[in-house]
Amino acid sequence: MTQISVRVDGASYTDEVEPRTLLVHYLREQLGKVGTVVGCDTSNCGACTVHLDGEAVKSCTVLAVQAAGSEVTTIEGIAQNGSLHPMQKAFHELHGLQCGYCTPGMIMASIDLVGDNPDPSEHEVREGIEGNLCRCTGYQNIVRAVQQAAAEMRGAQA
Ligand code: FES
Ligand code: FES
Repeated sequence: MTQISVRVDGASYTDEVEPRTLLVHYLREQLGKVGTVVGCDTSNCGACTVHLDGEAVKSCTVLAVQAAGSEVTTIEGIAQNGSLHPMQKAFHELHGLQCGYCTPGMIMASIDLVGDNPDPSEHEVREGIEGNLCRCTGYQNIVRAVQQAAAEMRGAQA
C-alpha cells in the first residue's frame, strides 16, 4: 500500500491505496464520490472524466498514486453555494441528457473545453467532446447546452 494525500472537491484526504488502484476506483470506493461513473473498460467512453489540476482526464486512465499532491474536481464539486454550475444548468435546461450516464463526464469535459475556448463553434464543441460518448441524445442538445453555458460563463467573466 502507498499513502497519498490529495485534495478532492475542496477537501483534503490522506489514504492508503494499492499502487495499481485507478483514480476512478479511489474516488468511488474510498471517498464515496459515486457521481463519477465507469462506462467502459477500454478508456473510450469518457463517463469517468474529472479535472486533475484543472485539466479534464479520464479517471480510469490515471492511477490514484499519480493524483497524489494534486487537486481533483469531480461532478460533485462544481456547484457553488448550492447553485448549479452554468454547465449543469444548461444541460438541464436544454435537455442535454436522457439516461444521464454520460452526463458527469460530459459536463466535466465541457467545462475544460470552455476554459480553453470560451466561445466554441458547434464544430469545436463536437471536436472538444469527441472523447465522450453518449448513446442516447444524438449530441445535438449537448452541443447547444455547451454553447449556452459558454455564453453564460463569458457573461460571468465580463
Ligand atoms: S470509464 Fe473511463 S473512459 Fe470509460
Ligand atoms: S444521456 Fe444516456 S449515454 Fe448520454
